[in-house]
Amino acid sequence: MTINALRGTYDICPPASYIWEYVEQEARRLFGQFGYGEIRTPIFEETRLFTRSIGENTDIVSKEMYTFADRKGRSITLRPEATAPVVRAFLQHKLYSVSPLNKFFYIGPMFRYERPQAGRNRQFYQLGTEILGSNHPYYDAESIALAHQFLCVIGINNPTVKINSVGDLESKKLFGKMIQTKLMPQQSLLCADCQTRLEKNPLRVLDCKNPSCKEYIKDLPRLTDNLSPASKEHFAQVLRFLDSMNIPYVIDNCLVRGLDYYTETIFEIVHSNLGSQDALGGGGRYNNLVEEMEGPSTGAVGFAFGIDRLVMVLEQLRPELATDRQQLDCYILNLEPSVFTEHVALVHKLRKTGIRADICTEEKSMKAQFRAANKLNARFVVIRGKEEIEKNIFSIKNMNEANEEKISYTDENTLFEILRERIIKL
Ligand code: HAM
Repeated sequence: MTINALRGTYDICPPASYIWEYVEQEARRLFGQFGYGEIRTPIFEETRLFTRSIGENTDIVSKEMYTFADRKGRSITLRPEATAPVVRAFLQHKLYSVSPLNKFFYIGPMFRYERPQAGRNRQFYQLGTEILGSNHPYYDAESIALAHQFLCVIGINNPTVKINSVGDLESKKLFGKMIQTKLMPQQSLLCADCQTRLEKNPLRVLDCKNPSCKEYIKDLPRLTDNLSPASKEHFAQVLRFLDSMNIPYVIDNCLVRGLDYYTETIFEIVHSNLGSQDALGGGGRYNNLVEEMEGPSTGAVGFAFGIDRLVMVLEQLRPELATDRQQLDCYILNLEPSVFTEHVALVHKLRKTGIRADICTEEKSMKAQFRAANKLNARFVVIRGKEEIEKNIFSIKNMNEANEEKISYTDENTLFEILRERIIKL
């Protein structure tokens, strides 16, 4: 019986993994440049961390969490996202007392029991940032600008940034009630999901993709027309800062997010190269979450990209990233078993000096070994067969030139030194 990876999970093998490495490397570099420090939180947490923060009535909590009892009967959940764990760590380590403003980034796997399809997996990966400690609208704009710049850096041009505001907690609640009042008379005409949403999480009705629900939604009042004066001003300032940085965006009055903790600005970044799951990432402000988790009142904002989806787009836009970029400095052929042990020592010595060296272990024909050297993209090949040993020489072939250099062999060290010299010179 063969055992395969579970549905909705997958392996990332070379050369596809080079794209992942590239994305993660660029994220670390750029996030560092913007002053964010890496935070790593556990992959599993107490279940109530997520039910309290993401919200009981969200899809994530009500049907997508990997929750199980551990051996002591405690309810544990594989993290479906990282914002709640970051807030937990922030409170647990009282990071607010270390610095008034904390900027974190994270990269890692998340778990949601969703129906798998292209761009939707059960174990997927996010890279994201969280800023804790300020209500200033500048930070909403900084998060969006960073997300946008990151996409440009990795070569995903022309993303669409959709932005909206759900206002403060009060505006959000009032608007939810308003939607309930307006739509209740038509409740039975809405899709089954919206009928439930209308009762439990009315804002989510706004982003229903069902054409018949859309008919009712289009006549609803707009979120941004119903914000408190302070929320209106906050949103206007975010847009002003984005304009000042020339970050393109579209205001999407129907944008709402699938997690309950958001207040004020919310945003999503979509790309036309993705199919129906077109969100590369999303985020927003969550000014009440820290307090709801028994911490001090703390303004906060962040976003996360789905790395799986970034890679899907890059596979189309930059396929060259998935080719082996790594060149081997030298490949030592295995033509004469009597010198193999000496070559083992040689390859180890070369590697210790930082040279990318490798050795052929199979006793194949010279032609086959050269084919292997070509496949490995080797710059130099060391040839030491019967003939060379008899003549007390060895050959170094520069794979970009026709001729090979024949050098007299005095001892193991000459071979090492001459080879090293050739490699460093190139
Ligand atoms: P989210 O919108 O749930 O937000 O997820 C962010 C991104 O993760 C999505 O836009 C998508 O690219 C990716 N993603 C989500 N679910 C899956 C899946 N099943 N398969 C593949 N990719 C997926 C959050 O998680 C928030 N914590 C973001 C945030 C940070 N808000 C504030 N700070």
